[in-house]
Amino acid sequence: MQELLCTFVHKKGSRNEVKIKMTINTTKTVRDLALEMPRAATVFEDLRIDYCCGGGRSLSEACAAAGVSVQDVMRSLEQAEQTREEIEDWQSKRLSELTSYIIDNHHVFTREELRRSSDMILKVCSAHARNHPELLRIQSMFIGLAGELTAHMLKEENVLFPYITALEEATLSGDPRPIPFFGTVRNPVRMMMMEHDTAAEVLRAIRAASLDFAVPPDACASYRALYQTLETLERDLHRHIHLENNILFPRAVEMETAIATLQPSR
Ligand SMILES: [Fe+2]
Ligand SMILES: [Fe+2]
Repeated sequence: MQELLCTFVHKKGSRNEVKIKMTINTTKTVRDLALEMPRAATVFEDLRIDYCCGGGRSLSEACAAAGVSVQDVMRSLEQAEQTREEIEDWQSKRLSELTSYIIDNHHVFTREELRRSSDMILKVCSAHARNHPELLRIQSMFIGLAGELTAHMLKEENVLFPYITALEEATLSGDPRPIPFFGTVRNPVRMMMMEHDTAAEVLRAIRAASLDFAVPPDACASYRALYQTLETLERDLHRHIHLENNILFPRAVEMETAIATLQPSR
C-alpha cells in the first residue's frame, strides 16, 4: 500500500479559496476517487484509465493497466483540482435532477453523434475501405453499437428513470411507494450495467481497430472528422456511464431499500 500526500486548492482565486492537504491511498478504487474528486474523471479519461465500467480496480492496479505512473496521475489530479471551473457534485443533488441532466446532455449528445457518425462512416468507407479494410470492421461494430445504445437509452428514459423519479417523490412526500412491474430497481440496474459493459467493450475494440484513432497519411478531412467524432463519443460515454453506474444506480438502490423498509409490501 502506498500513500501520497497532495495539496488541492479549491475555488482558487476566490474569497473562499481553501487549500486542502489530502492523503490518497493508492489501494483506493478509481471509482471512489472519481466520486470524491469530480475532476478526477477528466484526468482518468485523458490518461486512458478506466473509471466507469472498470472503476472497481485500485488506483495502482488501474495505473499499471493503463501504463502510467501513480505519481504522474497524482500530479495531474493536483493540477486539475486547481482549475476555477465549477463541477457539479451529483452526490448531493436530487436523483430527478441527475436523470434530467443525463437525458438533456448525454442522451441528446449520444443520439446526435451517432447520427453524424453513421453518415460519415458510410462516406469514409466508400472512399477508403479498399486501402483501409479495418474501416469495414469499424463500421460493422459501430452499427451494432448504435442500435444497442439507442434501445438502451429508450429503456432508461421510458422505464428506469421515471421509476427512480417516482421513488424519490414518494420518499420526499411520504406517499405510498411505487410498485414496479420489474420487481425491484436492482433488476433493470443489473441489465443497464451489463449493457454498459458491452458498449465499453465495443468502444475498446473500435479504438484497437483504428490504432487509437490514428489518422493515416492518405486520409481525407471526413476520415479525420470521423475518428475525432468516434473519440468524442467514447469520451462522453465514459462520463455518462460513470454518472449512472457509480452515482445514480447505487443511490436509487439505496433509496428503494430505505423506503421498502419504511413501507413493507402487504
Ligand atoms: Fe444513459
Ligand atoms: Fe445507461
